[in-house]
Amino acid sequence: MHVYAMALEKGGVGKTSISVNLAAAFARLDLRVLLIDLDAQRHASRWLGVDTEALTVEDSFLGVAVQHRQLADCIRPTAEGIDVVPGHKELVALPDVLNRSMGGGIYVLKKALQGLAETGRVYDIVLLDLAPARGPVLATALAAATRCVAPVQAADLVLQSLRDLAESIVQAQEFNPQLRGLSVLRNNYTPRAALDRVYDQALGEGYSPALLQTIIPPRAIIRLASGAQQSVFSYRGPDDTAVREAFLKVTEELLVLDGVPSS
Ligand SMILES: Nc1ncnc2c1ncn2[C@@H]1O[C@H](COP(=O)(O)OP(=O)(O)O)[C@@H](O)[C@H]1O
Ligand SMILES: [Mg+2]
Repeated sequence: MHVYAMALEKGGVGKTSISVNLAAAFARLDLRVLLIDLDAQRHASRWLGVDTEALTVEDSFLGVAVQHRQLADCIRPTAEGIDVVPGHKELVALPDVLNRSMGGGIYVLKKALQGLAETGRVYDIVLLDLAPARGPVLATALAAATRCVAPVQAADLVLQSLRDLAESIVQAQEFNPQLRGLSVLRNNYTPRAALDRVYDQALGEGYSPALLQTIIPPRAIIRLASGAQQSVFSYRGPDDTAVREAFLKVTEELLVLDGVPSS
């Protein structure tokens, strides 16, 4: 089971867009995919058609962290063939909850994922959609992850956020030997644009071994598909081939890096 934490403290870089569409791309490869929405904004859950207003806080990961609910009981299927642990607005309390039970608390997600197999639920890929923050939620995600994927755009604060994230990963590796490292995914990027070239040089200097080759281009379909509560694979609209191919290429790159997924 590969567990990918989608993280960067900077907001709006594409963590949720990539979580949802990468999950859909993995599902297209007939892999069993679980997406856990750890963001109180619960955009990933809504994108996948989950009516989060109709859910209680126990239906989210907070139910596992606070009430020791089984993760399997929080899982719902979606039309995209992706299973989801939905977000809830009360997830804003998750950092405090995790802080209070720090020690044993940091492994709450890792243990919950390990417990899934005992309930008969087996996944090849788990994607963790994180809120734009550092702190206990990121630490808990990194304690459970096998890789951290950071979407980046040519924007202020991205390089600083990336430095901070790389530091958090090194710290997490001390207690999670399964965490293989960081992959940097350029999103909303136009390789020939002057600003993106400047960022590319900086990324190449600081992160070249971590840089994924595939670039997710800027495309309106990502926003349109979100509005239609569909992945870019299900949404029928203009200029979609390049985006779908890009997401499929990212799955290939990750599977090559991490080997064929094992149950
Ligand atoms: N490659 C892209 N092309 C066009 N719009 C994008 C792209 N990636 C993300 N977006 C848009 O940018 C906004 C922020 O993306 P989001 O995934 O919510 O970021 P985050 O989860 O990191 O805060 C969203 O409105 C999304 O539709
Ligand atoms: Mg998000």
